[in-house]
Amino acid sequence: MGKVLVSSYDVIGDIAIVEVPEGMEGKKKEIAMSIMDAQKHIKTVMEKKSNRHGEFRLRDMEPIMGTETVTDHKENDCVFRLDVTEAYFSPREGTERVRVANQVKPGETVLVMFAGVGPFSVVIGKKQPRVRKVYSVEINPDAVKWMEENIRLNRLKYVVEPMLGDAREECKKLYGKCDRVVMPLPKEGRNFLETAIRCLKPKGIVHFYYVGPEENMFKIGNDVIRMECKKLGRKCRILKQQKVLPYGPRMFKVCIDFEVE
Ligand SMILES: C[S@@+](CC[C@H](N)C(=O)[O-])C[C@H]1O[C@@H](n2cnc3c(N)ncnc32)[C@H](O)[C@@H]1O
Repeated sequence: MGKVLVSSYDVIGDIAIVEVPEGMEGKKKEIAMSIMDAQKHIKTVMEKKSNRHGEFRLRDMEPIMGTETVTDHKENDCVFRLDVTEAYFSPREGTERVRVANQVKPGETVLVMFAGVGPFSVVIGKKQPRVRKVYSVEINPDAVKWMEENIRLNRLKYVVEPMLGDAREECKKLYGKCDRVVMPLPKEGRNFLETAIRCLKPKGIVHFYYVGPEENMFKIGNDVIRMECKKLGRKCRILKQQKVLPYGPRMFKVCIDFEVE
């Protein structure tokens, strides 16, 4: 087995997604072949052509080897089918999905805002079979199409309910009805905190994701949470501060779990 020519790349099912380092543009095929040689199940190698952008958090990509962009990704006893060019999916967040799913108790009504192809919702449904309902709001119609497929593949038809639309509008139907709200939109999630809090029953819990600087990663989150709760006249209690993943130089994706009285 030869040496892989890049230090890191993502694998979603049988698709590898790689950033070609500067100065190695002429060696794309060799890079792709070194990945396929190291991981024999890889059928397609895609090159990242941009950072994530826009409301749907997609990135531009081009194939280097292979053409198939639909794949099945297995994680936590679940399977996620998606077209990697149509919807957001990160294989790096599996541990975080389990951390949240393990907290869900029997009988809970859960809301996943920004649900994508359904990874949080499906892992919650699988780990806690006695959850009452997992409402799953997503604005990208293609992501919702794959979420519906993943609900079918994971046999969660009566558990996970997809809702296509803008979280701010769709969640109005759920005001006061949820025990738990998951908010996996780290860049703009803070603009939806009020909506999330309004969806909670008394003593409900929010998992709030955002991006914070390494030196003081939880301060901004604590401040915004306290500000939003104060605005709504609700008392809150921070339950856990979780470092999730690096997010660019000296920045981290983090999660704050908090309870609202
Ligand atoms: C960072 S991705 C997370 C997706 C999924 N939860 C996951 O972990 O793979 C954020 C998702 O939020 C969706 N989104 C962005 N703005 C939204 C809005 N206003 N209402 C509902 N969904 C939104 C995007 O289309 C994208 O799929």
